[in-house]
Amino acid sequence: MVAAASSEDAAHTPRHVAIIMDGNGRWARQRMWPRTLGHREGVEALRRTVDAAGELGLDHLTVFGFSTENWRRPRDEVNALFDLLRLYVDRDLERLAADGVRVRIIGEREGLAPDILDIIDRAEARTAQNASFNLTIAFNYGGQQEIVRAARRLAEDAIAGKICPDEISADVFAGYLDTRGLPAPDIVIRTSGELRLSNFLLWQAAYSELVFLDVLWPDFDKAALEKAISEFAQRGRRFGGLGGA
Ligand code: IPE
Ligand code: IPE
Ligand code: MG
Repeated sequence: MVAAASSEDAAHTPRHVAIIMDGNGRWARQRMWPRTLGHREGVEALRRTVDAAGELGLDHLTVFGFSTENWRRPRDEVNALFDLLRLYVDRDLERLAADGVRVRIIGEREGLAPDILDIIDRAEARTAQNASFNLTIAFNYGGQQEIVRAARRLAEDAIAGKICPDEISADVFAGYLDTRGLPAPDIVIRTSGELRLSNFLLWQAAYSELVFLDVLWPDFDKAALEKAISEFAQRGRRFGGLGGA
């Protein structure tokens, strides 16, 4: 009988990597280019990273594409970021679908333009049967807002008599989040040297290993992802216990 991977191996092999793709603006500024060119190059980095994540044996990649706070940016930049989602789905959806990638988009749907809602529905429906890899795009996403939306739905179910307050546990609550059904990220990577979560996956990252890389997102590649994974492998995850020491 072939021995199953030891629990130690499993602890060192991430299944789910989440990335705060930061630094597009600075990448462009270094070249005296407009910020939007940095975002455009960021899409190329996303493409490379999806391929690399599959090659490295991950099951899940979750990326932060647009935060609920990013509406504070100039309108032109916001429009450019929405255009890039349109472009990405137009150009890559068929290839992702053919490669067995299941695409999910998490975040607040209210307030998004009808054509963006169509794109989201199309991407999710076209790949709903896929299971070999999971790409989750956080778009118009904020962790606090996600938790509030979950609490609201839970309160509605309680009022409707579908759930009793005593039955609410962390697992039940997680089932009301946008990420229901997805495992928690093993690693949250943030590029560009910033050391904060900026409202990304606040609930889900409770026990994620945080890896901060100096690389600007448009320069991110397979080697950078491997570096984050090897850093993860050095960490001792204890989940509050003693880690079998
Ligand atoms: C990340 O790059 C992309 C988004 C937030 C949408 P930034 O645009 O934040 O780049 P910097 O942080 O200004 O360099
Ligand atoms: C977080 O980056 C959002 C995304 C990467 C989509 P920001 O660049 O918006 O975060 P802050 O403003 O520096 O915290
Ligand atoms: Mg930034």
